[in-house]
Amino acid sequence: MLARVLAGAVIGIEAYAVEVEVDLGRGMMVFSTVGLPAGAVVEARTRVKSALDNCGFGFPQRRVTVNLAPGHIRKEGTAFDLPMALGILQADGKVPPEALASTLVVGELSLDGRVRPIRGVLPIAARALEFGARRLIVPYENAAEAAVVEDLEVLGVHHLVDAVEALNGGTSLQQVHPTPPASTPDGALDLADVKGQPVARRALEVSAAGGHNLLFIGPPGAGKTMLARRLPTIAPPMDFAERLEASTIASVAGLLRPESPLLGERPFRAPHHSVSSAALTGGGPLSRPGEVSLAHRGVLFLDELPEFRRHALEALRQPLEDGEVTVARAQFTLTYPAQFTLVAAMNPCPCGYLGHPRQACECHPTAVRAYRNRISGPLLDRIDLQVSVDPVGAVTLRETPTGEPSHAVRARVEAARAIQVARLRPSGLTCNAHMRPREIRAHCALDDRASALLLRAIEKLGLSARAHDRILKVARTLADLDGLADIGPRHVAEAVQYRQLDREGLA
Ligand SMILES: Nc1ncnc2c1ncn2[C@@H]1O[C@H](COP(=O)(O)OP(=O)(O)OP(=O)(O)O)[C@@H](O)[C@H]1O
Ligand SMILES: [Mg+2]
Repeated sequence: MLARVLAGAVIGIEAYAVEVEVDLGRGMMVFSTVGLPAGAVVEARTRVKSALDNCGFGFPQRRVTVNLAPGHIRKEGTAFDLPMALGILQADGKVPPEALASTLVVGELSLDGRVRPIRGVLPIAARALEFGARRLIVPYENAAEAAVVEDLEVLGVHHLVDAVEALNGGTSLQQVHPTPPASTPDGALDLADVKGQPVARRALEVSAAGGHNLLFIGPPGAGKTMLARRLPTIAPPMDFAERLEASTIASVAGLLRPESPLLGERPFRAPHHSVSSAALTGGGPLSRPGEVSLAHRGVLFLDELPEFRRHALEALRQPLEDGEVTVARAQFTLTYPAQFTLVAAMNPCPCGYLGHPRQACECHPTAVRAYRNRISGPLLDRIDLQVSVDPVGAVTLRETPTGEPSHAVRARVEAARAIQVARLRPSGLTCNAHMRPREIRAHCALDDRASALLLRAIEKLGLSARAHDRILKVARTLADLDGLADIGPRHVAEAVQYRQLDREGLA
């Protein structure tokens, strides 16, 4: 007896179809799996056998061969448990032959037959129609994310017994429908909380408008963390495609919650400074997406930047430049998207008070230099907006009225972003920060005065060619915030202003 069940798996964030073929042959009871099964898939035999026994179906006293096709792709993970169990039952005559037609099945089994959630259901569901499925049987906890995809019938199962009963025409499984998108920004945070700080607030707005990387430098208590955490409250909302991309990565990482299967807000990832380089950029033995990919389409916030491991910081250079990260595995390489805005905060020196208006700094100049050297030149080069944040005194703080609220800033950011989206649509980009040399040439033309200004600044500050292009991109965003088609000298002047720490403070 031969049975076939359609299943799916993910490599990186790419889903592919897997056919689970089950053959019951004559001979002694042996259970073998072929088709490049890796660790967890080999172990599936134990789980499937126990689950079938414990649910009262019994394991066929035959030679059981499970083939996972295509045979050349290595199969990892636990998603094949449920399709294997259903395939064995079908081959054994306990599930009708037609019951699993046009149906894709994924799910992990526990020894007692309960169906456990798996990672990566969203990308599998997104391609299910292409794989020839119109119906999906998935773990109940994953049903909401599968239901994000239109035109699919999604059935969520808690237990192997429920699935078998339903396939035999007994109780029907609960069909799960898409949940309305959750798009509620964290109402507890608002830019109105930040008093004063016009320069830092402006930089935050420019960063949100054009997707530019940002570094706040200032003494303890200046409000750096407070400002950075409010960036999501002014960021432009994601469109559907961006939400699907960000949610896919969360799904593969197993971080998608049933109550919000499609991410509504841009991701904001704030890993601790003890994070390993593998956790930051992805890879490691489990080949999960790293923080840079979890921050895809959103913000990666590195608070206390010099405290991060040098190795981890250097690993950021490739994704910052390419918008993706390549992870080497034993037999192949994986590529995860990683288009994020880097927002970082640091003190100017180890004690934190260098340049403080009221407090003396105790650091030796060599200690200051060593501290700053933890951030390499090439990394700093990729940070378009480098801004000093001076503390607001206690008295001033009390007397200063509350700042402009997030929704007002967000309106300007959205207007500027809409201009960029329209302009960059032919290139498939969505914001100025992602412009490549070709788009920079096309969209960042300068008049003579602006051009002369930029050249003088580059010479005086000794900036790199990369910095030159990045200044142009920031200037483009500043003009977009003004609603102007042409970049003027004042836009260039302001953009250069944001690079000054390159030389003055940190290099
Ligand atoms: N401009 C401001 N308006 C309102 N409150 C402020 C402002 N600046 C600082 N504060 C208050 O000071 C607190 C400390 O700010 P925050 O934690 O952001 O400082 P920081 O610059 O990150 O310091 P550290 O270098 O120690 O991390 C804030 O939670 C807030 O209560
Ligand atoms: Mg802080």
